[in-house]
Amino acid sequence: MAKRSILIAPDPRLKAKAKDVEKVDGAVRRLVDDMLETMYGAEGIGLAAVQIGVTQRVIVMDLEQKDGKNNPRVFINPKILWASDETATFQEGCLSVPDIWEDVERPASIRAEYLDRDGKRQELEADGLLADCLQHEMDHLDGVLFIDHISRLKRSIALRKLAKVKRQKETA
Ligand code: NI
Repeated sequence: MAKRSILIAPDPRLKAKAKDVEKVDGAVRRLVDDMLETMYGAEGIGLAAVQIGVTQRVIVMDLEQKDGKNNPRVFINPKILWASDETATFQEGCLSVPDIWEDVERPASIRAEYLDRDGKRQELEADGLLADCLQHEMDHLDGVLFIDHISRLKRSIALRKLAKVKRQKETA
């Protein structure tokens, strides 16, 4: 396993549209392992392959890290089958958009299909944080960031803050 570096917005590679994984093979499982190591290393709860510059539809997530125990989830080629009309608002952050937190409204419940780490088709019904996080990560696979869902004014303030954070990181 190897930790990869996470792209920070604004970066044109974060706008890439990822392609479906054709076969869940050893190379894909190695990518998943690298993504998990990268996500845990950055203390994140979710990471999409696009965020490390890999344009494949692969997501890792762990919403239940507790007492040093990991409960990783892997979603390959995820698709939303159904989304509720009812919405929910969560304060979101993103490893590619450091130090920025904003409320985002999304469908409250979803049903999705995906392939697991073994390439087996799975279905999932989700609400709460899992539904929100999966939609946030799936957005990454289409080149969309959570700040694309907020008002123009808030986004321009966020982008200015981000540019400052980026400069500080580069000179640190
Ligand atoms: Ni994100």
